[in-house]
Amino acid sequence: MSPRPLNVGLIGGGAGAFIVHPHERAIHFDGTRRVVAAALHPDSKVALREAENWPYPLRGYPSYAEMIAAEAKKPVGERVDYMVIVTPNHVHFDPAMKCIDAGIPVFCEKPLTTTLDEADRLAVAVQRRKIPFGVAHTYLGHWTSRLARFIVRSGLLGEVRWVDAYYLQGWLAGRTEDQGVVQAEWRVDPQRAGASCCGGDIATHALMQLRYVTGLEIKRLRAHLETFVSGRQLDDHFTTYCELSNGGRGLVRASQIAIGHKNDLGIEVNGTQGSLVWVQEDSEKLIIRLPNQPDRTYWRGAVTANDGFLPDVPAELLAEPNIPAGHAEAFHDAFARLHRCFEQDVRAYLEGQPFHCDGSKYANVQDGRTGIAFIDAAVRSQQKDGAWVEM
Ligand SMILES: NC(=O)c1ccc[n+]([C@@H]2O[C@H](COP(=O)([O-])OP(=O)(O)OC[C@H]3O[C@@H](n4cnc5c(N)ncnc54)[C@H](O)[C@@H]3O)[C@@H](O)[C@H]2O)c1
Repeated sequence: MSPRPLNVGLIGGGAGAFIVHPHERAIHFDGTRRVVAAALHPDSKVALREAENWPYPLRGYPSYAEMIAAEAKKPVGERVDYMVIVTPNHVHFDPAMKCIDAGIPVFCEKPLTTTLDEADRLAVAVQRRKIPFGVAHTYLGHWTSRLARFIVRSGLLGEVRWVDAYYLQGWLAGRTEDQGVVQAEWRVDPQRAGASCCGGDIATHALMQLRYVTGLEIKRLRAHLETFVSGRQLDDHFTTYCELSNGGRGLVRASQIAIGHKNDLGIEVNGTQGSLVWVQEDSEKLIIRLPNQPDRTYWRGAVTANDGFLPDVPAELLAEPNIPAGHAEAFHDAFARLHRCFEQDVRAYLEGQPFHCDGSKYANVQDGRTGIAFIDAAVRSQQKDGAWVEM
């Protein structure tokens, strides 16, 4: 018999919101999860009205606190099985902590929190409560990110020497925050975004791509957080030069003033035997460069084991894609893959079985905490005029 669909709750995501939509589609992607409840707005009347206007029936709540308390009282099967937090950064910690305390798994947007202290407290609470907790580092959900991880971590490129992980955008090149764009308004406000705008918003994605693909950590870094648009309190351009845990070096960099760049996230890994190039806006492909050989292009899903470069490819990886390569998978599919993997852990948790939540399929609370520690280190380095600081 088919299992019942998991019940999902939304915290945030009312009219005009952005990232709720990819989540909402990803939740419904496989037919095994569905949105049933939501607290969509900080104003209780608006929250209830927007739930009424939702395209399908929802249990609308006036606030996330009331939703978590009410859902926690329902029996398993009727209650929300996991909560998705899609609010601005300063409204991640409190709802996440309330969900953990209530025993409800959380899939939270990044950056995890606005301070390292809050991130530490969440990580401790998740470990104590032994509960699935995911962080929405979307791009780990691309099939080609998983292949890249397999290639680099298998040592097929030799020892990693140099990594360039970047995320370039141009949407904050002018005073977007004065043009009624709510997403810009809160991102440039330190009270709501945290200590870094560009770093917290998008360099954390580049950092996660580096860590996920290579398995390396940042040992120490030098940072420059720059503000090119006058009147802003936070950075709109973010550069770190990093020493990696294997002694290699790398850049984790991001910009929101790079006009023409949309969601130009990418990673280049240079090893002693070859290099790898992956670009999010062309994520059907992965390029491998080996000395004195033509470049190899690996398309999503269309790889052959033992082809002279790839050894046996894990069956799990080959079984994953849904549609043939070239029928482009992209952002929504990556989100769906994260929710699909999180669902497996939530089902195991609900059955009292061991679950993974180990960062191999989606970012976990420790990964989220590392992102905040990275921002914290970058800000400390900036305060010392770009001096080396330990992570
Ligand atoms: N993973 C990704 O690729 C990705 C992309 C964009 C944004 N994000 C992250 O997602 C989060 C939201 O970003 P966005 O661009 O969608 O923001 P947004 O401003 O478009 O949406 C935020 C939503 O939260 C609601 N909200 C605010 N306070 C609330 C409260 N107390 N209770 C209930 N609802 C509340 C707002 O009404 C709005 O509906 C941010 O943390 C951001 O960093 C992640």
